Amino acid sequence: MSAIEDILAKIDFLPPLPGTLNKALQVIDSPDVAIKDILEYIQYDSALSANILKLCNSSFFALNRRISSLKEGIAIIGLAELRRMILFILSRRVFANEYRGYEARPGELWRHSIASAIIAAHLQKTYPCGEGDLFTAALLHDVGKMILSDHVAGETRKILELVREHGYTFLDAENEVIGMTHAEVGARIMSRWNFPSVLVESVRFHHHPEAVPQSAFTHFLALANIMALLLGYGTDTDGLATRGYPELYKQYGIKEKDLERILTATLEKIQDVEKMLV
Ligand SMILES: [Fe+2]
Ligand SMILES: [Fe+2]
Repeated sequence: MSAIEDILAKIDFLPPLPGTLNKALQVIDSPDVAIKDILEYIQYDSALSANILKLCNSSFFALNRRISSLKEGIAIIGLAELRRMILFILSRRVFANEYRGYEARPGELWRHSIASAIIAAHLQKTYPCGEGDLFTAALLHDVGKMILSDHVAGETRKILELVREHGYTFLDAENEVIGMTHAEVGARIMSRWNFPSVLVESVRFHHHPEAVPQSAFTHFLALANIMALLLGYGTDTDGLATRGYPELYKQYGIKEKDLERILTATLEKIQDVEKMLV
């Protein structure tokens, strides 16, 4: 079996999103949803319930009283935040393994993902990022690494040689050596998990936003990824795969002082989520 056939087969055999979390997300997204309907799905997932309570009581929400029940917590933080929390926890499960091909330290890829997601949510509040949930796209943008990791780990020497000696970006080197990039694999996984096409496409082009000039959504995903790297939440290979996007900063009027403001505003939140879910 060629590497590409092997990768495609792995995508086909990928399990669906974890059941409870997926159902909870569907319920949250349905119109006329009631808290009791959501509770039905998440209260039996004890790790999820405990994590939601921990997050409700963390400085992430800065509530001035202690929340002791899931129902109370959800009523206070609201469905949009609950959705994000479920996704944080989901991402912890998705990125639970060690990804040798991409990480210098275990958990690095997951930390990069939550940092990108929190920055993305902040960007979507401030800038015209287009329709779609940028938070979810950012949280899962590198999901393709989950499948490519072993292939990359086996070819690290060849890939790094192309990067260091022949001026390839990590992404182009991935393509040259393995025949596919983590962005393409990620897009296929997102599609298999039935995420909306705007999310699928943004994952596909997160290292090539110039390929989709009309897609503000993809542009801001690329920016969230790079801002996470600027904050020190990245993997070595992300740094190698990514260039700066001065043209995007210019196009959306993001000045250096805005960038500083965004990074300062998000750092504490990122650290909070990181501490809560380790
Ligand atoms: Fe990436
Ligand atoms: Fe990334």
